[in-house]
Amino acid sequence: MRKLIETTFKDLFQKVPLIVNSPGRINLIGEHTDYNEGFVMPAAIDKKMYVGIAENGLSNARIYSLDFQEEFTFDIRSFSPKKGHWATYIMGVTAQLQQAGYQVKGFDMVFGGDIPVGAGLSSSAALECAAGFALASLFGFDIPRLSLVHYAQKAEHLFAGVQCGIMDQFASVMGKKGHVIRLDCRDLSYEYFPLDLGDYQILLVDTQVKHSLADTAYNRRRNECAEVVLMAQQNLVGVKSLRDLRLKDLDQLKAYINEEVLGRGEFIIEENERVIDTSKALKEGNLKKVGELMYASHEGLSKKYSVSCTELDFLVEMTQPMDYVLGSRMMGGGFGGCTINILKKESVEIFKETITASYADKFKKTPKFYEVNLEEGTSRL
Ligand code: GLA
Repeated sequence: MRKLIETTFKDLFQKVPLIVNSPGRINLIGEHTDYNEGFVMPAAIDKKMYVGIAENGLSNARIYSLDFQEEFTFDIRSFSPKKGHWATYIMGVTAQLQQAGYQVKGFDMVFGGDIPVGAGLSSSAALECAAGFALASLFGFDIPRLSLVHYAQKAEHLFAGVQCGIMDQFASVMGKKGHVIRLDCRDLSYEYFPLDLGDYQILLVDTQVKHSLADTAYNRRRNECAEVVLMAQQNLVGVKSLRDLRLKDLDQLKAYINEEVLGRGEFIIEENERVIDTSKALKEGNLKKVGELMYASHEGLSKKYSVSCTELDFLVEMTQPMDYVLGSRMMGGGFGGCTINILKKESVEIFKETITASYADKFKKTPKFYEVNLEEGTSRL
C-alpha cells in the first residue's frame, strides 16, 4: 500500500509524500457503552488506512481516494460538510485543527487502505485519525495523541453527523501490538491487556449487510439512554450517566419509562459489568469465561438493545453447538457488519466451510472472513 500511495502521489502531484497510517479496530467486549461513560475493550488491527501528504503552496486541499479512484478539491479557507462523501472525514478533521488554532496550509493527499468499508471495523475513524496525524506531521503541529482522538471524534459528530462515542478513534490512535485496551470512557484512563490466545484465534465474519438506517438508529439509542438518565436524575442524586446506575435503580423508573427504553439502560449496566469481568478473566487466563461473556453480550445487544439483525443473530447462533468456538457476538454499532469469534486455530477451515454453506443457503450471500492481529496505533512510516 505504501508503494501504491507513493507512485500515485508522484503521478498526480509530482512529489514524494510523507506517509502515515492509522488502523481499523475490533472490540472484544463493551458495545454502546462508550457514549454512556462506560467501559470498552477494543484493539487496533492489522488492517489500516494509509495517507500520503505534501504541501502544495495553494489554498486548496486536493485529495485522491485510491479506493474510489476519485479526486476531490476543497478550499481550505471556506468549506462545509459533504455528508455521505468520503472527503467529509478529511474536511471534518481539517476544520477541527483550524478551530483549535493550527494554521493548516494547502496540501495534496492520496489515501487508501485495506479496512473493509461498512464492515464495522471503523474505516472512517481510521481515515479521520490518519488525516489528522498526517496534517500534524506535515505542518509540525505538536498535537498530543489524546487531542487527536478528540478532533477525529468531533469530525465525525459535526461533519459526518454520527454522534459516535470515543472508542473507535481511541483504539485507532492508541492501539498496542498484541494487546486489547480496557478504556474507561468516563475519565479516559486505560490499561493494556495482552491478548494471549494460545491455540485460539480471533476471526471476524462479515455479514455483507449494512442497513441504511444504522446511523439514525445509533443516534436514537443515544437519546434513549439519555432519557433513562434524565428520569433517574429526578429520582436519585449524583447520577450523571448510566454508569452511575445499578440494575435495582431501574426498578424505581418502571412507572415512568416504557419497557423497551428501560431495557436499553439494563443492557448498558450489564455490559459494563461484563467488561470488568472480561478483564478479570483475561488476567486469570480464563478464555472460556471470556467466550461466555461474549455470548451474553450478544444476547443483550440483540434482545435488550435491539441493534442486531437476522444475519448477525444467525451467525452467532450457528457457532453455539461448535465446541471449538469459545465465544461469538456482533461487533460495533450493529445492524450489519461483522461478528467477532474466538475459535481453535485448527478448526478455522471447517468453521469457514460450515458457515459459508449455511449462510449462503439462508441468505443467498457469501460471508467474508477476516483473520486479524492486534497492532500499534497511528504511526508515521
Ligand atoms: C460505533 C461507534 C462507537 C461505539 C460503537 C458501539 O462503532 O463509532 O463509538 O459506540 O459503535 O460500541
